[in-house]
Amino acid sequence: MIKLESVSKTYRHKEGVVHALSDVTLSIEKGKLVTIVGPSGCGKTTLLLTIGGLVHPTTGKVSLDDKSVYDLSVKGRAELRLKRVGFLFQTFNLIPYLTALDNVCVPLYLAGKVIDEQRKRARELLEGFGLGGRLEHKPAELSIGQQQRVALARTLANDPELVLADEPTGNLDPAMTGELLSTFRKLHEAGKTIVIVTHNCQLADEGDMRLELREGRAAVRK
Ligand SMILES: Nc1ncnc2c1ncn2[C@@H]1O[C@H](COP(=O)(O)OP(=O)(O)OP(=O)(O)O)[C@@H](O)[C@H]1O
Ligand SMILES: [Mg+2]
Repeated sequence: MIKLESVSKTYRHKEGVVHALSDVTLSIEKGKLVTIVGPSGCGKTTLLLTIGGLVHPTTGKVSLDDKSVYDLSVKGRAELRLKRVGFLFQTFNLIPYLTALDNVCVPLYLAGKVIDEQRKRARELLEGFGLGGRLEHKPAELSIGQQQRVALARTLANDPELVLADEPTGNLDPAMTGELLSTFRKLHEAGKTIVIVTHNCQLADEGDMRLELREGRAAVRK
């Protein structure tokens, strides 16, 4: 389903050139749970963003179901992301002036759902993540772990077939980490394709495949 062919990404910066990804070739079949591990700065977030249609590779090709993602128009790529991809960002990217409920409504609104439907779905998701009492809180009025769960609810709002999660357990306590693991297991059982960047050993071993990144180069370890 996901195919990367000789993907490289070079960031040009006034401090110099960074080779974040070097010649990465890999395929991820539909329904697989894949984990990505590797030291800080080795290119994990860049790889996830590239798979999700958010970072244009410098060279190489990324395909989703045999469609070349970066040959689509910007609008086509935005539609693909909205309909089929759920992205959980390392830094959450919640909208600071919107409540938890409204943050989760955003992708539902963009997908054309009517307001009642948006709110019903957003409420169900947030309640499912134990945030029923925080619907009207803005991100700054929530703990980091709670913000992470709001972000996860937003990721899952449109029931994406591909879930890309960047360090989802980074800010969670052991109990919440356990719950998140069971959420990912359920998504996996439901047939979603899931790619997770993680430092959590338990989560890293959950996968059907584990990718290790070192200085932008990927190796399959499982
Ligand atoms: N927009 C950018 N412009 C310039 N350099 C960048 C940019 N984004 C990332 N980099 C550099 O690319 C390299 C890979 O970054 P990336 O965020 O993919 O790493 P990572 O493996 O996710 O790290 P971490 O575990 O700390 O989140 C780093 O050296 C980083 O400094
Ligand atoms: Mg990162």
